[in-house]
Amino acid sequence: MKAVAVKPGTPNSVHLREIPEPSLNEIPNGRGVKVKVLKVGVDATDREINEALYGNAPEGDDFLVIGHECFGIVEEVGDQVTHVVPGDYVTCTVRRPGGSIYDDIGRSDITSEEVYFERGINLRHGFMIAYFVDGAELVVQMPPRLKHLHVLAEPMSCAAKAVQQAYDAQRRLQVWEPKLAFVMGAGQIGLLATLILKLRGLEVFTMARSPGPHLKQEIVESMGAKYISTSETTPEELTKQLGQRPDLIVECTGSSRMAFKSMELVGHNGVVVWTSITGADNTVEIPADAINLHWVLGNKLLVGSVNANFRPFEMGIQDLALGELTYPDVLEKILTNPVDGLDNYEEMMRLLVEDKNALKVFINVAEE
Ligand code: BGC
Ligand code: ZN
Repeated sequence: MKAVAVKPGTPNSVHLREIPEPSLNEIPNGRGVKVKVLKVGVDATDREINEALYGNAPEGDDFLVIGHECFGIVEEVGDQVTHVVPGDYVTCTVRRPGGSIYDDIGRSDITSEEVYFERGINLRHGFMIAYFVDGAELVVQMPPRLKHLHVLAEPMSCAAKAVQQAYDAQRRLQVWEPKLAFVMGAGQIGLLATLILKLRGLEVFTMARSPGPHLKQEIVESMGAKYISTSETTPEELTKQLGQRPDLIVECTGSSRMAFKSMELVGHNGVVVWTSITGADNTVEIPADAINLHWVLGNKLLVGSVNANFRPFEMGIQDLALGELTYPDVLEKILTNPVDGLDNYEEMMRLLVEDKNALKVFINVAEE
């Protein structure tokens, strides 16, 4: 079957190749699920992988099949699989277990090992193929009425985990009733985090550089949040205008400068979640004394969050469902750029790299 792959270490090596179709009995004990891939999304991680800044091939191979945001339909299940049946729509988690205690308890998203295994990213082949097979505990059901949101399930799982980590960590305070949130960045994670926080009843300001009107602003405002162009109003100016600092900041700009800037913005007892993956080696000067002082005097907290296991996938899918009911027809606007067929992988990469207005590029791999 066809697969879209790269040669890790070689920039711009994206190509089409033939690999064998997987079979259900690759997964032991009747726990296998075979999925026909319908759609696969790409994001900045795929761009960095194609630029050879990130990602590694599985041991013994000199190529990596890419694609970690998948949506498909179950084709076949092993005799011990009960939570999905052929014909169900599904998505799939990305990390695979390593050897730490967290991996043992199904939390490879917080593995304590340096090496991590991620389908389509690091040491495991991905989903840009016609069929994949994986263990039942990794395959997540999508409600049929959400099939139009398909590849958003994976980025949504990362956003859901990030917000949940902040809430879990804030239990340190005994009482925490956040009212005001800043979301730094209005890419897919920023927009999905905006939704999650609105659904939790917060006042949300979502920020990105470019002044509106544009699609990002439209999506943010359709969800009842406010869009701020940081080239018109800096986040500091915003806190002055509001007369208060945010209780929670979700940082997802992709810029470490903004990640550190967020530390200067959050209010007393507040929490900042960092989600940006910054593969380059930029440096930045920070007001270290001031940050340290206010961080200590304000009992502030910084949490890093990556990836998501089964549970945040479910939480994210539930929030997609609630989001559809609360703000109808808004989320699908994130899915801006479809490309038809794996054969068109070059067009997919071109859109991902060059089209600054593309919020989400995805491949229609097959019809049902
Ligand atoms: C993926 C995550 C992954 C992270 C780090 C993101 O693009 O969505 O699942 O953990 O990259 O590799
Ligand atoms: Zn991703």
